[in-house]
Amino acid sequence: MSKLINHDDIAKILYTEEQIKERIAALGAELRKDYADVEGEIVLICILKGAVMFFADLARAMDLNLQMEFMGISSYGNEQRTSGIVRITKDIDTSIMGKHVIIAEDIMDSGLTLSHLMKLLASREPASVKICCLLDKPSRRETDIAPDYCGFTIPNEFVVGYGLDYNGFLRNLPYVGVLKPSVYRIEE
Ligand code: IMP
Ligand code: MG
Repeated sequence: MSKLINHDDIAKILYTEEQIKERIAALGAELRKDYADVEGEIVLICILKGAVMFFADLARAMDLNLQMEFMGISSYGNEQRTSGIVRITKDIDTSIMGKHVIIAEDIMDSGLTLSHLMKLLASREPASVKICCLLDKPSRRETDIAPDYCGFTIPNEFVVGYGLDYNGFLRNLPYVGVLKPSVYRIEE
């Protein structure tokens, strides 16, 4: 069996590498403007593993003096349905008290994961916490939460690539695409 990615598994490309790059440059400029003159330190938190690509590109696009931190969270539930009860599998290494926190997340779906995480981070008394997600699926929202910064708003489709996975794979696709239903069927 070839180890090459089968790009035929992708029904359609939603956002190309170039489109993602352009959008992140714009998000970076927006964040730079909003945070250039804040009092106190800025911490950009990567939510592992899905946000890894977005985080790395966004951090450079922002051109702000900030700390880069990583947080691993696992939500009980399966790949396509989150329970919203999150467990920290890896915590950040620094205190966020009095600092400005920006959460970099891959996608906001039900919103349950982030709403839980926001409460948890708020208890650590940061100066502020904002959410910056690459993708938003507002049609699936189950809680009253919205991203402060968002790359693209997408319809209710299961997407992979640029950090987003299906069963742990396809995160390293350079673009964001919709997986073919036949790929799911094989897995079931
Ligand atoms: P929620 O907002 O709590 O429902 O969960 C968001 C998480 O679900 C994301 O961080 C992703 O890990 C996962 N997720 C939601 N939609 C997708 C998708 O279309 N593709 C891949 N992962 C997804
Ligand atoms: Mg995820």
